[in-house]
Amino acid sequence: MFTYSAILLVIISHVELRLLVHTEVGSIQGVPADDGDYVMFLGIPYARVNVSNPFGASIPHEKFDKLFEAFNDSAICPQMQQLYSKTNHLYGGSLDCLKLNVYVPNSKTMDKAVYLYIFGGRFVHGHSRKSSYGPKYLVRHDIIVVTINYRLGPYGFMCMDIPEIPGNQGLWDQYKAIKWVRDHIRAFGGNPQKITIGGHSSGALVVDMHLLTKQPRLFQQVILQSGTATNPGFVVPSNTKALISIAEKLGFITNDTYTALSFLAKADPETIIKATTDEYNWKPCIEKEFEGVAPFVVENPEFSGETNIDGVNILGGFTFKECIYSLYSPTYKKLISEPDVILSSINRKFNFKNDSNFINVVKHFYLGDDTDRKSNKYKIVDFLSDFDFVYPIQRQFKKYARHKNTNVYLYMFSYEGHLNRMKRLFNITDAGATHFDELGYIFTVYYIPDIPNSNDQRKIDQMTTLWTNFIKYGNPTPVRTELLPVSWPPLTTDTVPCLQIDSNLTVISRPFHSNMAFWDLFYDANLDKLKIVSKKP
Ligand SMILES: *[C@@H]1O[C@H](CO)[C@@H](O)[C@H](O)[C@H]1NC(C)=O
Ligand SMILES: *[C@@H]1O[C@H](CO)[C@@H](O)[C@H](O)[C@H]1NC(C)=O
Ligand SMILES: *[C@@H]1O[C@H](CO)[C@@H](O)[C@H](O)[C@H]1NC(C)=O
Ligand SMILES: *[C@@H]1O[C@H](CO)[C@@H](O)[C@H](O)[C@H]1NC(C)=O
Ligand SMILES: *[C@@H]1O[C@H](CO)[C@@H](O)[C@H](O)[C@H]1NC(C)=O
Ligand SMILES: *[C@@H]1O[C@H](CO)[C@@H](O)[C@H](O)[C@H]1NC(C)=O
Repeated sequence: MFTYSAILLVIISHVELRLLVHTEVGSIQGVPADDGDYVMFLGIPYARVNVSNPFGASIPHEKFDKLFEAFNDSAICPQMQQLYSKTNHLYGGSLDCLKLNVYVPNSKTMDKAVYLYIFGGRFVHGHSRKSSYGPKYLVRHDIIVVTINYRLGPYGFMCMDIPEIPGNQGLWDQYKAIKWVRDHIRAFGGNPQKITIGGHSSGALVVDMHLLTKQPRLFQQVILQSGTATNPGFVVPSNTKALISIAEKLGFITNDTYTALSFLAKADPETIIKATTDEYNWKPCIEKEFEGVAPFVVENPEFSGETNIDGVNILGGFTFKECIYSLYSPTYKKLISEPDVILSSINRKFNFKNDSNFINVVKHFYLGDDTDRKSNKYKIVDFLSDFDFVYPIQRQFKKYARHKNTNVYLYMFSYEGHLNRMKRLFNITDAGATHFDELGYIFTVYYIPDIPNSNDQRKIDQMTTLWTNFIKYGNPTPVRTELLPVSWPPLTTDTVPCLQIDSNLTVISRPFHSNMAFWDLFYDANLDKLKIVSKKP
């Protein structure tokens, strides 16, 4: 009896030890997960919004003066909730939101590899709650998973060309979160020299921006799922009138930016978010540079010097029918019904006149003479998939593959099971894996509570093994196994191999190669028509 309780005591204290970590900023207490053998440290603050200027740079968070109980991941940054939320279209959030979650598997391995995931949501929606990005499938592979919040909309992406609000504040929030992880993850058993950052859609776009920025690099590898910094429409001009015009909407008339700023700094975030949902385009921008202000983005990613890329391994890709979801999502239904959807889509990145012969060539390439929107909507979906995702990703990956010691692994996800995440969200019945679908095999999400069937479970096992092999070893298929009976080669200067993730795993080559060749020629002929280049004189 005595021996039994002594053993029990040892077991309990062993577990307790893992629930408590001591970092340079103080001690942090976690909680055991209820869906796997790992510990969750939820809602750790990594920075603080500056109350005098909530649209500007965030400031350091003070050290914890007592034990920090990391039990609550519910903080989200101000937003109209959509897509990834249980409460569609309702305002939610507060400025006390710069927090991250750390999920640590219970194992004796020291120096675990770390995967830091940045959510997507077009820079205005989203959060890192476990209900939307549950790490259960990933932590089984003995890696630490971190998910982070960053400011959205006007608070994260107001770009005013003034030193107090130069733009890209949300990217700086992410940078500070990555830095926090690099500086403190050792205390959780993680290896700060083995950090992979990854994201999906606009989350992948920002990960690519962290790769392209000239700021010191804080990580070793990246995962880019359906997004790169060169995706059309995601680098926008500055809006130097934003503060004055938002103040005016709230009934405060001034023609002075700083007067508007002091007024808006005190305004309720809910009022500001509600006043700015529609006509503002909150996205990363090319910054005007100021003495004493570190810039994050200074050039169009299309022309980036790519100075930080040598030696960074990259895994990423796209889905087979990226834009099928646009026939279902309310936001994109509007876009796809525009009479000139091809012109307006291309002009998110280029500057073409309506009578440009190039636009006609694109129309003929995708539609032939079919002008009937009912019958040609699938052709427009193909155009959007190529223009917005498949081409920019392949173009960017081919560039990256030229770098020294940089292995670039490309995938195309075409599997259709019960966990395809976008299909489930919008009850999509059209064939073809669409944007966001692959994420259901990597993270758990509240709206797919199903216990996976055996095919889907095998897909989860395959994908999370590929992803975590990459995170741990820099190579998704270091050995052939029954689960992964393939060898997934990286791109070379002349070849574009691609792992097709379907019922089976198959190495194919140059997916959609005819369409890609078309866009190669289109880009070569029109790079001088790119919209936003640089603010340098
Ligand atoms: C907060 O913002 C105000 C207004 O821009 C600025 O004067 C102040 O220095 C900022 N605080 C910190 C700690 O950076
Ligand atoms: C968790 O944090 C939210 C704010 O983000 C707060 O409203 C809620 O009360 C907290 N829950 C607990 C149990 O402390
Ligand atoms: C800006 O406002 C000030 C004070 O109301 C006024 O004197 C000035 O004429 C205004 N300037 C412009 C350019 O509207
Ligand atoms: C572009 O031209 C087409 C055909 O000439 C016309 O139907 C359409 O309204 C024009 N669109 C714009 C945006 O001017
Ligand atoms: C999808 O179907 C489910 C179950 O039939 C339903 O509850 C949900 O509202 C549907 N969602 C959409 C976006 O149509
Ligand atoms: C997958 O591979 C198995 C065994 O090689 C084969 O029998 C099956 O037809 C393949 N399935 C598909 C969808 O290609």
